[in-house]
Amino acid sequence: MLRVVILISGQGSNLRAFLDSCAEGTIPATVVAVGADVDVSGLDHARHYDIPTFVEPLESGGDRDAWGTRLGDRIAEFTPDLVILSGFQRLVPPAFVRRFAPMLLNTHPAYLPEFPGAHAVRDAVEAGVTETGATVIVVDNGVDTGPILAQRRVSLIDGDTESTVHERIKIVERELLADVVRDLADRETAIEEN
Ligand code: GAR
Repeated sequence: MLRVVILISGQGSNLRAFLDSCAEGTIPATVVAVGADVDVSGLDHARHYDIPTFVEPLESGGDRDAWGTRLGDRIAEFTPDLVILSGFQRLVPPAFVRRFAPMLLNTHPAYLPEFPGAHAVRDAVEAGVTETGATVIVVDNGVDTGPILAQRRVSLIDGDTESTVHERIKIVERELLADVVRDLADRETAIEEN
């Protein structure tokens, strides 16, 4: 069983799907802790499963590197094999990436390298594209630039709003993340360093 720490910044619907799949035995992983940068409602999904939670805020104007060290220390207490950013809306500093990558994944609601950044779904809708997508990457020091592990297209349909298409994207994100974690568990080896 892979030991996984998941970081969120919001409602955590993808986290909930991941936890449900672990409980059903369809993802061979144990979520050992869930962390956030703010005290968000999504942490309740972890509490529902009696999984430890922690909050490590980055104060405005705070030292990002020091925050990254504190966040990394909280995670390291749980000795994870894998760390997943699942709707975590903070860029993590380079030392954090060095500490956990390549076993540090991020799910992104677009077909990278299209629409990187914090507003990927809104950007796709405003660009008027007919399809966008979902991607799972290894985190590197860029903004959504790391190696792509899995991705799939999602079509925009007439009348779609940011929220309707985002809900369909999230369904795909959940499937892709489950596939990637199953693959990692099967390999019994870490992702190769590039
Ligand atoms: C997901 O679509 C995730 O890919 C996205 O936030 C959403 C979280 O939804 N992440 C990013 O945009 C990262 N920049 P959730 O809180 O309902 O799981």
